[in-house]
Amino acid sequence: MAYYPEIKIAPSVLAADYSRLEDDLKDLEKRGIDFFHIDIMDGHFVPNITIGPQVVKAVRGITDLTLDVHLMIEDPDFFMLKFIDAGADIINFHVEPFIENNKLNLKKLLKVYNKSQGVRKGLTINPPTSADYFKDILRETDLDFILIMSVNPGFGGQSFMPDVLAKAERLRTYYGFKGDIQIDGGINQETSKYALKSGCNILVAGTYIFNSE
Ligand code: DX5
Ligand code: ZN
Repeated sequence: MAYYPEIKIAPSVLAADYSRLEDDLKDLEKRGIDFFHIDIMDGHFVPNITIGPQVVKAVRGITDLTLDVHLMIEDPDFFMLKFIDAGADIINFHVEPFIENNKLNLKKLLKVYNKSQGVRKGLTINPPTSADYFKDILRETDLDFILIMSVNPGFGGQSFMPDVLAKAERLRTYYGFKGDIQIDGGINQETSKYALKSGCNILVAGTYIFNSE
């Protein structure tokens, strides 16, 4: 039987009303959510722009809950420590910039990451990226999280891509990964059931949570 860590709910702040962000976040806090998932987009890695470290710092001032910062940016090397300083508890960055740009060195960045006291570490993969990308990384790094994108990143409100769930199954059963597996994109009451069954345990949801009572 595969090992499944505790189930957690992480609303994606992307779907919040930014003109009343504090009210939205406090409201969710009262409902017993686990993390706030904060999407950072740079207009290069994805065709959309969101917020920077200043807003993460402001959110840090509003809540004591875990801030799970998802960096959809071309240069995590340059920005990662800025988001950690701003108050991120978890940093998830994508592996794809390292595949596409051989000037970026993932192993070097993971060393810095390992030394970042207190911050929990995650790596993220897009739908086309194989779970086998983690083969060496899992041997060499003590990763806390793997985030599997179940939509192409950049926008909320897209449809869930069920094929990505095979990656969670492979990480649990073939690689024996015992850390948290997050699933992000198109998560709702129905798709979350499939995600949990495949071995994901952290459900990131924007549209579904913010649009429901
Ligand atoms: C997409 C983001 C997601 C997004 C999810 O690039 O990473 O976190 O907010 O939104 P929904 O739940 O609407 O798919
Ligand atoms: Zn996200």
